[in-house]
Amino acid sequence: MTYAAHGLPLFDSGLPETTDPKKILIACETSGIVRNAFLARGHDAWSVDVLPSEDKSNRHIIGDARDHLNEGWDFLMVAHPPCTRLCNSGVRWLHKPPEGRTKSEMWEELEEAANLFAAFLHAPIDRICIENPVMHKHAKARIRDYREFSQSIQPWQFGHGEVKRTCLWLKNLPKLKPTKIVDGREARIHRMPPSADRWKERSRFFTGIAEAMALQWG
Ligand SMILES: C[S@@+](CC[C@H](N)C(=O)[O-])C[C@H]1O[C@@H](n2cnc3c(N)ncnc32)[C@H](O)[C@@H]1O
Repeated sequence: MTYAAHGLPLFDSGLPETTDPKKILIACETSGIVRNAFLARGHDAWSVDVLPSEDKSNRHIIGDARDHLNEGWDFLMVAHPPCTRLCNSGVRWLHKPPEGRTKSEMWEELEEAANLFAAFLHAPIDRICIENPVMHKHAKARIRDYREFSQSIQPWQFGHGEVKRTCLWLKNLPKLKPTKIVDGREARIHRMPPSADRWKERSRFFTGIAEAMALQWG
């Protein structure tokens, strides 16, 4: 399958073409990694983010994902709603904010992130996958009708020699099966040097996981 079917430049992904194309929304994604994996299988896939897409795709909507949840999608894949205030590894900032920030700003941002997560969790779409790190108790308490994640996965189960535990909250989707277990166990993202784009690189999704999603769910 190539992207040519969508009027985009030829790109041979090697993924087999679907016989049942679906209308798919990938929310909170600028990299296009999950969108392109589903596009490569012949799905009508779109990404939406408040920021422009990195690959300048004509299949990217710029805006608040919540304004686009009622547009008849068969499948919502939330590739990574902002987790800085929700995740366990960032819980310390709620009590001791980073320099230049206040405690009340931290708690307001937590509230905002919890509301966005809840909008995805309860979106009026048949099949949903939300991806995020392990959450702390204050986040869980603020997400409306919170339920625990369905499974957790690691990049090293999908061909990337890295450790980054990722939880998936699934609705009407089977658990994702590992596709290629590799030896490497590098914590690459923890060792990234400071830079303006560090947050983007840290949250960039893994192509191996995206391809597994497109193959097993698409
Ligand atoms: C942690 S990053 C996810 C990056 C993603 N894994 C990728 O590979 O592109 C979170 C993304 O959510 C976006 N975002 C935040 N609030 C949003 C909203 N209300 N609607 C759509 N996107 C939003 C941010 O701009 C950012 O790109």
